[in-house]
Amino acid sequence: LDTSSDDDDEEEEEENEEVNKSTEMGEAKETKSPSQETEDKQRDKEEELKTKQDGESEKKVSDQKVQSKKPSEPAVFIPVDRLPEIQEARLKLPVLAEEQVIMEAVRENPCVVICGETGSGKTTQVPQFLYEAGYASGSGIIGITEPRRVAAVSMSHRVAKEMNLSTRVVSYQIRYEGNVTDDTKIKFMTDGVLLKEIQKDFLLQRYSVIIIDEAHERSVYTDILIGLLSRIVPLRNKKGIPMKLLVMSATLRVEDFTDNQKLFRTPPPVIKVDARQFPVTVHFNKRTPLEDFTGEAFQKTCKIHRMLPPGGILVFLTGQAEVHSLCRRLRKAFPFRKGNTTTETDTSETTRKFKKAKQKKPVSLPRIDLDNYSALPVDEGDEDREAGIGDEEDEASDLDIGDDPSNAEVKADPSIPLYVLPLYSLLAPEQQAKVFRPPPPGTRLCVVATNVAETSLTIPGIKYVVDCGRVKKRFYDRVTGVSSFKITWTSQASANQRAGRAGRTEPGHCYRLYSSAVFGDFSLFSEAEITRRPVEDLVLQMKDLNIDKVVNFPFPTSPSAEALVAAEQLLVSLGALKEPPQTGRIKELKRAKLSCPITPLGRAMASFPVAPRYAKMLALGKQQDCLQYVIALVAAMTVREIFEDLDRPAGTEDESSKLTQRRARLTQMRRLWAGQGASLLLGDLMVMLGAVGACEFAGCTPKFCEDNGLRYKAMVEIRRLRGQLTNAVNAVCPEVAVFVDPKMTPPTEHQVVCLRQIVLTGLGDHLARRVQVEDVLDPKWKNGYKTALMDDPVFIHPTSALFKTLPEFVVYQEIMETAKMYMRGVSAVEAEWVPELLPQYCHFSPPKDAPSPWFCSTTGTVRCHRSSSFFRVGWQLPAVDME
Ligand code: CDP
Ligand code: MG
Repeated sequence: LDTSSDDDDEEEEEENEEVNKSTEMGEAKETKSPSQETEDKQRDKEEELKTKQDGESEKKVSDQKVQSKKPSEPAVFIPVDRLPEIQEARLKLPVLAEEQVIMEAVRENPCVVICGETGSGKTTQVPQFLYEAGYASGSGIIGITEPRRVAAVSMSHRVAKEMNLSTRVVSYQIRYEGNVTDDTKIKFMTDGVLLKEIQKDFLLQRYSVIIIDEAHERSVYTDILIGLLSRIVPLRNKKGIPMKLLVMSATLRVEDFTDNQKLFRTPPPVIKVDARQFPVTVHFNKRTPLEDFTGEAFQKTCKIHRMLPPGGILVFLTGQAEVHSLCRRLRKAFPFRKGNTTTETDTSETTRKFKKAKQKKPVSLPRIDLDNYSALPVDEGDEDREAGIGDEEDEASDLDIGDDPSNAEVKADPSIPLYVLPLYSLLAPEQQAKVFRPPPPGTRLCVVATNVAETSLTIPGIKYVVDCGRVKKRFYDRVTGVSSFKITWTSQASANQRAGRAGRTEPGHCYRLYSSAVFGDFSLFSEAEITRRPVEDLVLQMKDLNIDKVVNFPFPTSPSAEALVAAEQLLVSLGALKEPPQTGRIKELKRAKLSCPITPLGRAMASFPVAPRYAKMLALGKQQDCLQYVIALVAAMTVREIFEDLDRPAGTEDESSKLTQRRARLTQMRRLWAGQGASLLLGDLMVMLGAVGACEFAGCTPKFCEDNGLRYKAMVEIRRLRGQLTNAVNAVCPEVAVFVDPKMTPPTEHQVVCLRQIVLTGLGDHLARRVQVEDVLDPKWKNGYKTALMDDPVFIHPTSALFKTLPEFVVYQEIMETAKMYMRGVSAVEAEWVPELLPQYCHFSPPKDAPSPWFCSTTGTVRCHRSSSFFRVGWQLPAVDME
């Protein structure tokens, strides 16, 4: 725990410098470039692989050679028997015009980048080009990765349909489900699935082509895949098992892939696909609603439907809950029932009546003029008024629904039903497929979507886009490594992409629910995910792929060297990586610190889909029959906010007294879950465990959750996660297979002690020690705790189960700054456990140096002394067996 000695600090600084230097050196010509080193490493790996599967791979090579001399340039043409209407529709797609150019580039280059407007036909057509050109006619198949499950599933169905082939041939694989068969020739999958396949077969010998789709989304897995494939492809070609890589992206920044020496020594050719795009008029709001943007979206959608000519509406919201809430409101406002639609003739009549929008000629890209928006006067919004959706009307209340504003120039028929469909990642595939079909005659299509509709999926017939301007993004807590979702402003590039969805079939309109000033403050592009989060989990995944020098890995955008060093240190502390040698020349030592190989424990941890701290707990969880509790605890700790917020401010006095009553009752309930004596010392984690247990006994109903201050959605999520984690743990250690019975009996005292130790081993770097009275130099330290990471004191929150106990040592899940720096998820630790279970954090000095085995220095660092008597006296069973 002694992290603050001066010497150590200096060493740390030097170490960081070293990392920077080595990165710089990589760019200089005379030294070995990092990519070269990775390649060397991979060559070693290749040798290893070769010796392992000698006979097998040899045979594959010869097979390929027999089939054709150069399998990467197949001369065969595999005919596809498409339906005439399909063929007609695809001939209109812009990407068809580039087929020849694309296929020539693929034939002549190992890697090709295709960049084109969303909807131009990349995802659905390029796999078909490759299939027809014979790339799946040999033993290798065509693989396409998508960052989203929705796209993997729906695109595989679409391509199967277009090619008139069964899903046995054009298939998909997502994490827990898929329809891949031995006959599969085109395989859509999520990027995570392909990454796992690389773990099994580094050379991906099953594939003759890999297409990385939606590369502009810059998901962490996509980035790692591109880095890995930039090495795998040359290796394969050298081995005589040719392979092609296609990177496909929307027209957003592609320089990270192409002008990146570390990635591709010769920049891959970029083929641009021009899309037909009609002009989109962008309308800004005068003001920006800060809270209720769903309500704002509702008003805007109603107005569009009531007043504007036919054409589908696409609303961008941030998450599943808002999508459903808006769908409900819209359905209520404009009910759609089978039978209440107008007849075919009526529709065409209505259409004619509405056909005021002038037919404009299609123009080529760029379709939205960036300068155009910023030039728009903030307060005018002429086009808004012309269209009858002036800002003045933004105040309209729900009561206005159905009314016909008299000043509207072009009126729609309010009796036309709105055909409202939700669209988000987790929606069932049959539901998702609905958005691609024409809406029932006599209705207007309205799709309420998350940003899956931004680039992954193109919905036909959209003329109006309503953009809330926000996006739900994953944020990783730097302190805990736990991920959470937060709503933030989107980027300008994304907002323009959303607007572009309105101009696919005719000129369109985009209504932004924020002002042009706010738009001006958006960042230009969304940041690559990899730069926004701690990287210990992905470092662990890469080590599991035997990429030891993660710092040299050719990332399209590298995480900072500091982030990599921190990740490596944490993983060493957790025992997931081998400790670097302690002796040798400083330079070698430092290099070793950044290339620690994975341990068997690390491999087990890598197979659990949670952050490494929690994975460590799962890996140790089998002891003393604790596994089911550890699984429940990890699930509860991974899901944010399982409890309702007790600090919610009250409005009226009456409300306030009710809230106080409720708060008292809920606090009492939590105390009950925390239990007495031994179980109380597990602290807030015992409360979580108690809540999960109690909720499951009650059948996990919304009512139980409401009555007991639990968030129903969190509880459902915990149940799902418990199942998932159980499968993962059973796969790693089948000998202790657990079957999660949602109803678990409370842990025994013995088990609680064990659980506390397991929690300590995972959260070791989050150990805090209460400052003793005699150490308090400053009143601000009263009841304060000292942590290894912070200079200031942190505190136990009044709602914590341990608020009154104030144990000497605690571990915490995270620190939240509100009125004070509060620790959350606090659990008590016995002092004796620290040197035994966390020797890596302890500073041991000869006993003669100190009179007592423990003392706390004025700076708050904890020192403990290893003396033989200490262990014998202090240690209490049951102890966790670290092996
Ligand atoms: O990948 P990219 O965005 O370039 O285009 P795509 O996803 O291949 O879509 C090409 C066209 O197929 C679009 O105009 C879609 O509307 C259409 N499509 C469809 O009608 N039904 C699907 N299930 C998927 C795509
Ligand atoms: Mg696509």
